[in-house]
Amino acid sequence: MRTCGNTSDVLVVGGGIIGLVTAWRSARLGLSTAVIDPEPGGGAAGVAAGMLAAVTELHYGEQMLLGLNLASAARYPEFVAELEEATGQGTGFRTCGTLSVALDSDDRAHLRELHALQQRSGLDSEWLSGRECRRLEPMLAPGVRGGLRVDGDHQVDPRRLASALVTACERAGVVFHRVWAQRLLVARGRATGVVLAEGTETSAGQVVLAGGSLSGRFEGLPEAVVPPVRPVKGQVLRLTVPPAYAPFLSRTVRAVVRGSHVYLVPRANGELVVGATSEELGWDTTVTAGGVYELLRDAHELVPGITELPLTETRAGLRPASPDNAPLLGPTALPGLHLATGHHRNGVLLTPVTGDVMAQVLTTGELPEVARPFTPGRFGPSPAALSPAPASQEQPA
Ligand code: GLY
Repeated sequence: MRTCGNTSDVLVVGGGIIGLVTAWRSARLGLSTAVIDPEPGGGAAGVAAGMLAAVTELHYGEQMLLGLNLASAARYPEFVAELEEATGQGTGFRTCGTLSVALDSDDRAHLRELHALQQRSGLDSEWLSGRECRRLEPMLAPGVRGGLRVDGDHQVDPRRLASALVTACERAGVVFHRVWAQRLLVARGRATGVVLAEGTETSAGQVVLAGGSLSGRFEGLPEAVVPPVRPVKGQVLRLTVPPAYAPFLSRTVRAVVRGSHVYLVPRANGELVVGATSEELGWDTTVTAGGVYELLRDAHELVPGITELPLTETRAGLRPASPDNAPLLGPTALPGLHLATGHHRNGVLLTPVTGDVMAQVLTTGELPEVARPFTPGRFGPSPAALSPAPASQEQPA
């Protein structure tokens, strides 16, 4: 085993937006920080549409998550301003609002229920008639029966966000190991570092596992701290609105069509993102004819003019989902090991609050109040139940 000269205060496994924001915020608080990822800035953010949909994606049973989502949404303007100033790069943050519409009476009943839940939760949303929806968005189908206007649900471009976070990390002095992380190092009951793919070791005072849907597959984790994260496939399309057709849509438009969610996210640069399937198919990331067909069929019912637009990209990504759809944030039962994973549908939305929460717990040892319902311990055994790591993983202290 070769030992790498690098030792850091914090070692982040995974350079997607969650790992990057954790590293950036930690470095800014003075911690020496390194990120391990063969392609930092990749991951699920390369596929995601970037809706910041705390209100329109409210689900029954997820009111606890709503608090975290709203806290992160509120931080977005300042967060992107800081990031853009630190890097000179744009993030495509657009305060355009969202319109959720219904195409038939079932959809409308569903949307009425969502509106009632939003009102009970103290959220701002306004019920509009079909005619009022079409006045806002003239490209909507004539059959739209009504909708919910949510002016506070915005969007960001996740690819530009990821790219800016890489630059911000570099400028803050974060070290990048552009290889796969092979396994966790554990010594005397504590996480002490990571073995990199080529066999070198790098050590750290604290390790953060931010591996997205791969987090549960990281080798060397004692069984008691393996995060219960599974991949949920999402297929997403990108179309281009030619200048002659602009503005095609002025805000995010979404609907539930026969039980499937479809959304159209218009970027200022003419890109129109259409998503997304939600499929429990393990590690499969195939783009299928059926997935593309269903997205285009549902999007076409909402906005018939979409069939005129060039289809420029089809991709599938994996959401890292936890058993309660909420993230796992903060210390695990293994001293020195933290998690920042399991963000499921909300990774882009939760990026600012995750960075702040993780940097604070890594700096002070205290998890901020807003993140306390999301500790990894809510799924796992207590520290006393921590099984010892296999002998082969133990390193002399
Ligand atoms: N938040 C959108 C999605 O996961 O598809």
